[in-house]
Amino acid sequence: MRIREAVHRVIDSPITQVGRWKSNAARDLPLIDVSQAAPTYPPAQELRDHIAAVAQSPVTATYTDQQGNLPLREGLARALTADYDTPVAASQVAVTAGCNQAFCLAMMALTEPGDEVIVPVPSYFNHDMWLRSQDVAPVDLKPDAGMLPDPAAAEAAVTPATRAIVLVTPNNPTGAVYPPALIDSFFELARDRGLALVIDETYREFRERSDPPHHLFTRPDWSDTLIHLYSFSKAYCMAGYRIGCMAASPALLRETLKIADCVALCPSHIGQLAAQFCLDHLDDWKRKYRRTVRDRVAYAARRMRDAKTGFDVVSSGGYFVYLRHPFTDHSSVDVGRSLAEDHGILCLAGSMFGPCQDRYLRLAFANVDLPAIDELVERLKRLAAAG
Ligand SMILES: Cc1ncc(COP(=O)(O)O)c(C=O)c1O
Repeated sequence: MRIREAVHRVIDSPITQVGRWKSNAARDLPLIDVSQAAPTYPPAQELRDHIAAVAQSPVTATYTDQQGNLPLREGLARALTADYDTPVAASQVAVTAGCNQAFCLAMMALTEPGDEVIVPVPSYFNHDMWLRSQDVAPVDLKPDAGMLPDPAAAEAAVTPATRAIVLVTPNNPTGAVYPPALIDSFFELARDRGLALVIDETYREFRERSDPPHHLFTRPDWSDTLIHLYSFSKAYCMAGYRIGCMAASPALLRETLKIADCVALCPSHIGQLAAQFCLDHLDDWKRKYRRTVRDRVAYAARRMRDAKTGFDVVSSGGYFVYLRHPFTDHSSVDVGRSLAEDHGILCLAGSMFGPCQDRYLRLAFANVDLPAIDELVERLKRLAAAG
């Protein structure tokens, strides 16, 4: 059987590699697992009770509209309207089987083999993997010292083959939150060059601020350029329900729904009911959870800065702290493996997020409490003291 070359060339998910490090992790120390951005924090009890009750209804076993249940889309439109302080309509929203699916659908609708998509590095590995599997070239954009992408560099990278620019804010892996003015510049560049601007805001709830993350939805012509992606996985700890969404023009959504219809027919019905319950009832729960995560990330970043271990905090936010490790002669994969095997710390290597990231490590704090963070810092200190 012949395998498509582009798919064969794509790397296995870095999470698989890290699974191997986990199997070989130091046995004499409790493992501190800061590798995954998938929350193990339990979803709200009310949500679990609600799902147990609605699961009794046979309707949950049926397909829904491809674009998603209308009440959920209306709820999403209301949430976007509130969060971005400007009206967004339900006709501009599609529910997807997770934010990853939304990205894949958008890219399939936009690109042909041989096209290019500008992706600031470090970048979310699933974006890179998907583009490559489609024979679309990710064009890397180096970050500035603050881990922010540079619109001028993006402009210089545009070629006749460019179809889109992808931003992830707050960023995975760096946690960097892109300022609204920077996002505006990218929008204007994309609009002026006839490109799509795809913004993945999976971590938007975990920003320090609660004002709108950007003002793109206030532009009357936003949907000619912007494709906005969101996930229920992180904010409501319901990754396994597989619900995300895409806000875009009805014309673009129509194209993506042709693909979604073939791939999954519709997002999980019960997952959609869960997401709707979240929007209708879990604002307070979400606020509390978001504070827990933000406190952990801020605490971890502060403790690591104060400890001066040689592992320097380059940026932090969302679920993440991005560290520069002190071992100039070692790749980030070697350092990551050694942290797991010798020190019981499981994290991701910078090189998993694109080129020129070998000096970095990504630590995710969705699943570790403050005492575990203290222990992590102690281990890094011991490592630094041992030279
Ligand atoms: C930036 C980003 N987008 C999308 C996802 C996946 O979201 P979903 O579970 O909704 O597919 C992740 C998960 O880690 C992510 O970090």
